[in-house]
Amino acid sequence: MYIDFHCHILPQMDDGSESVEMSLEMLRREMEQGVDRVVLTPHFYRHREDQRSFLARRQRAYDKLRRAMDADGGSFPELRLGAEVAMTKQLRFEDLSALCIQGTNTLLLELPFESMGSWYGDVRAIIERNTERVVLAHVERFRDSLKKKDHEEIMALPCLKQINTSSVISDGFFRRRQLMKWVENGDVHIIGTDAHNLTSRPVDMRSAVKIIKEKGYSAQLKDMVERARKLSG
Ligand SMILES: [Fe+2]
Repeated sequence: MYIDFHCHILPQMDDGSESVEMSLEMLRREMEQGVDRVVLTPHFYRHREDQRSFLARRQRAYDKLRRAMDADGGSFPELRLGAEVAMTKQLRFEDLSALCIQGTNTLLLELPFESMGSWYGDVRAIIERNTERVVLAHVERFRDSLKKKDHEEIMALPCLKQINTSSVISDGFFRRRQLMKWVENGDVHIIGTDAHNLTSRPVDMRSAVKIIKEKGYSAQLKDMVERARKLSG
C-alpha cells in the first residue's frame, strides 16, 4: 500500500478540489490505486492569510469532507491534515508547529519558483533550527526555473525532498533520467501526487509506481513509502 504525501483534495481550499463530490471521487481513485493514507496539504500563503484563519478554514473543509465520507459509506484511505507551506520571509520568525502534519513535526515546504534569492538563507535557517522536520515539496519542479548550480544547492540542503508522481510519468517538466538517478541514489525521499482535480492534475499514483518498479527501483520505492508512513504519524 502507498501513501499520498501531497495533494489538494480538501474541497474548496485552494486551486484543488472544487467540491465535496470531486474530493470523494479523488479519494476513491487513491483507494483504487493502492493508497491507504492521504496527507491533505492545501496551499498556505502566509503573505495572504494568517495561520489562525487558514487552520479554521481547513478544519471546516475537513469536517465537510468527513461528513460526506460518512454519508457515502464507502471505503476511503485514512486521512491526515497538513499543509503545503509556501516559503515567505515571515515564516522564519513564526512557530510553524500548527502547520506540520497533525501529530508530527513534519513540515511540507514549497520553495519560490523565482530565481535563487534571499529566501535561500531563510530556508536554511528553518531547516537548521531543527524544530520542524522539513520536506521540500516537488524539488524536481525547480529544475526549470533555477540555474543548474542553484538547483544543486537546493538538492544539497540537509532536509527531506518530495517528488511528484506526475514528474515520474511525464518528462515535460524535467529530465526523467535525472529524476530516476535521484530515486536510485536516495537523493529524493518521498513521493506524492500533488493531485488538484480529476482531469489535468489527477491522482496518478498507479502509473508512477509502475514506472519506478519497471526501472528496477522497487526497494527505493518501499523505503519512500515506509518513510512517508513514519513522517505522517
Ligand atoms: Fe501542491
